[in-house]
Amino acid sequence: MTLRYAAITDRLYDLGGDKWALHNAARARKAAGETIIDLTIGEPDVPTDPGLVEECVKALRAGRTRYSNGRGEVNLIEALIETYAHRFPDITSDNILCFPGTQTALFAIIQALAESGDGVLIGDPYYATYEGVVQATGAHVQPVPLRMEHNFELQASDLAAAITADSKVLLLNTPHNPTGAVLSRQTLQELGALCIEHNLWIVCDEVYESLTFGTPFASPLEIPALRERTIVTSSISKTFAATGFRSGWTIGPVELSRRILPISETMLFGNQPFIADMTEAALRGSFDTAERMRIAFDRRAHMIHETLSDSPVLSTALPQGGMFIMIDVANTGLDGETFAWRLLEDFGVAVMPGSSFGATATSLVRLALTVPDEVLHSAVKSMIDFRVPRTFP
Ligand SMILES: Cc1ncc(COP(=O)(O)O)c(C=O)c1O
Repeated sequence: MTLRYAAITDRLYDLGGDKWALHNAARARKAAGETIIDLTIGEPDVPTDPGLVEECVKALRAGRTRYSNGRGEVNLIEALIETYAHRFPDITSDNILCFPGTQTALFAIIQALAESGDGVLIGDPYYATYEGVVQATGAHVQPVPLRMEHNFELQASDLAAAITADSKVLLLNTPHNPTGAVLSRQTLQELGALCIEHNLWIVCDEVYESLTFGTPFASPLEIPALRERTIVTSSISKTFAATGFRSGWTIGPVELSRRILPISETMLFGNQPFIADMTEAALRGSFDTAERMRIAFDRRAHMIHETLSDSPVLSTALPQGGMFIMIDVANTGLDGETFAWRLLEDFGVAVMPGSSFGATATSLVRLALTVPDEVLHSAVKSMIDFRVPRTFP
């Protein structure tokens, strides 16, 4: 007799693998000794501040190694209240839940909001794990096209056109991975008005909040009329170059937080107190990690934009934040996937095909801004030279 699995394993079975095929191939070639410029993923290129590592070690030595509780350590919750008070003046501990990163937080939030038959509206292209987070619940992604001519900023008219009777949640991400779009307060107000009209939840992934270059960061939490339907999530991963510590949180309405809590408790049984102490120190401290990254990523994005201004075939929009830049390769006559594989073959430069991020991005490739300027410059030169030996239609 065949052993039987739950449907969630079918829904997630094919997610992930194909999306990372090029990244995995680049890694394998590097491991085999080839020189590969890897621009596929956005791991911060600065180390975690030694002062923060020290806080963690100090907490470990002080015995902060016991069980915590589902909501989070009191000292961290207090630091989060202070951090968010300017956006959400009435915030209390009942609005907060701690998680091991934005990823688990998103998983728990969407579990609490969506199920089979429900639609989750997401700007397309989107971060690679969103599809799985939605499909795990049995709900379906409702893509909303993000357009290069609008700097990939989600437009209210595109959202209005995508909303159906199934729609239940709008999942936002600002600053945006992979496009670098930053939602302005005005745009958030327009999108929020539609969410009120159609009774949609707003989930906002703000993991890149400290990495904005142009448009200032704005959160739907700052708009009082949206607060009852908004939950945001963020973490120390990007801001403090601390991806491996796994420390994030959600800020949302009391009743929604109450309903997410048992999902978190049954999955996690609380977080690690020594990580909570280190996170508190990060939030209360004056670390310059984000500022150093912000300056470097902005400079590199401008460098790429200028370098490509000479190219008759490659074009880009300046990202307003985040760790990435998208380049449109449609005029090479190749789609992003073919372009990326050939670039790896011929020049040893690995970029992510846009198709890994949704159906709208098939003519795009994504470059991480997390490598030194000269390496990035030589990769972009390769992309320009790439067409020289070939005759594109
Ligand atoms: C848009 C987005 N959300 C969430 C995550 C995961 O963040 P965390 O480390 O907080 O789980 C990433 C990581 O790259 C991301 O790009």
